[in-house]
Amino acid sequence: MKHLMLRKTVAQIQAEAASTGLKRTLGKWNLVSLGIGCIIGAGIFVMTGTAAANHAGPALMLSFIFTGIACAFVGLCYAELASVLPISGSAYTYAYATLGEGIAWVMGWLLLLEYGVAAATVAVGWAGYMNSFLLGFGIMIPPEFTAATGQAIKVTDVYHPMFQAAGYSFGAAGELLSASGEAVKGIFNLPAFIGIGAVTALLIVGVSESAKVNNIIVFIKVAVVLAFVVIGGFYVDTANWHPFIPENTAPGVYGWDGIFRAASIIFFAYVGFEAVSTAAQEAKDPQKDMPFGILGSLLVCTILYIGVSAVLTGIVPYQQLGVADPMAVAVDKIGLGWFAFLIKIGAILGLSSVMMVLIYGQTRIFYVMARDGLLPEVFSKVHAKFHTPHINTMLVGLLVAIAAGVTPIALLGDLVSLGTLLAFMIVCFSVLYLRKKQPDLHRPFKTPGAPLTPILGMITCGYLVYSIFFGGFFNLTDSGREVLMYTGPYLLIGAAIYFLYGRRHSKLRLAQNPLAGDPIFLAEEHEKRTD
Ligand code: ALA
Repeated sequence: MKHLMLRKTVAQIQAEAASTGLKRTLGKWNLVSLGIGCIIGAGIFVMTGTAAANHAGPALMLSFIFTGIACAFVGLCYAELASVLPISGSAYTYAYATLGEGIAWVMGWLLLLEYGVAAATVAVGWAGYMNSFLLGFGIMIPPEFTAATGQAIKVTDVYHPMFQAAGYSFGAAGELLSASGEAVKGIFNLPAFIGIGAVTALLIVGVSESAKVNNIIVFIKVAVVLAFVVIGGFYVDTANWHPFIPENTAPGVYGWDGIFRAASIIFFAYVGFEAVSTAAQEAKDPQKDMPFGILGSLLVCTILYIGVSAVLTGIVPYQQLGVADPMAVAVDKIGLGWFAFLIKIGAILGLSSVMMVLIYGQTRIFYVMARDGLLPEVFSKVHAKFHTPHINTMLVGLLVAIAAGVTPIALLGDLVSLGTLLAFMIVCFSVLYLRKKQPDLHRPFKTPGAPLTPILGMITCGYLVYSIFFGGFFNLTDSGREVLMYTGPYLLIGAAIYFLYGRRHSKLRLAQNPLAGDPIFLAEEHEKRTD
């Protein structure tokens, strides 16, 4: 227990932050752009469609408002921690300094869901838009290789004739049928696998540093989303907004219950706003710029999201939105083919940058964990020429690419939301804990309204966690059951790695009591020194 509670001191972390040699080049608007670069992605381009079709209907706007408020509470907590502990590693480092090594490990393990699994999720979304883009040029990838293993395949109406010409037909629920009349099932999502492979290769040679490229992509992405809201706004048929809250038909399906279930799905769209905090060491004035970057990007995205959901459900009856590229479908519907083309380009580019930032974040978290001794040293090895953690990046890229190839997007999205929400709750708790334990610590930014704000952050995130699993009064939903089936073993594997490896090799622990280490590890260290 004592070891689980081992913590780094705030002074220790501040000293580590001062010694990295990174340049402070990012101003406050760069940080907002960094945030938006990571936030706007598959959540809005892909998941809004199914969230509206299957859960909230036009009331999806309310889901976005609720989730935006929850994230604002959490964002204010992140801003305080980022101002006190301006160092890479984000929530993992905060946990190490406040709640101790055990929780820091749990946090690192949850962040693997937030970053690694999110990258896989975005890749599946990216693949959806890529397929649709290629179909626009008459190029058809064999459908079995465009979907997760065992998944039924749906094709957007516009491309039905193309598939019919190739000998396919469509079933009653719109599922793709082979020439012999059998439902076509996915084998492997090849474009998603290739997308992650390409991003990983770029990261290995060190492309991520380019803030300029990020700014251009963010500009295109925001322009496309804004254009969708403004141009699409003229084609809204308000009849589509009635009923605004469709009647509840099952746990988590429509009604208020559905609004919260949709909120837990589109929570994915907000994931990444706190990625700004990972740049704390490169911010010119972290104390002021961090809160600005975090809250600024959150505000911009919330406004855009509410606009998109209003226009989307105003153009297309919500029942028809359960497709891989809902925004393109909406634009097709109003007959602006050229604009659908632009939306697809914007989505493909935008989602590529999100994949890159997420994999980058994941590798850096593993890097910091390996430097702390909680993961094998190979994760902190740096390539002599590219100066990137190449083996770490390759391993992460491979795992993410396989996950993207075999898992459906809805399940991936739920896993990300769950991991991230739990991580957010720990962050809110850390603020309360640090305030209590070290009340006199210099806090350049203080979460306004504390302790109420962090408590509200925990309650709202907790409610979203509830909505992932349950509808109505503790009715476990089918999707909830599936998520549970994956998270249980996932957490057990995490605990096993910590107890079998991390705990024995923890540098902090060894520094405090060198004799407490794993005998094999100590023998190896001894050998290295005597070499
Ligand atoms: N928020 C990011 C997205 O929607 C992860 O893709």
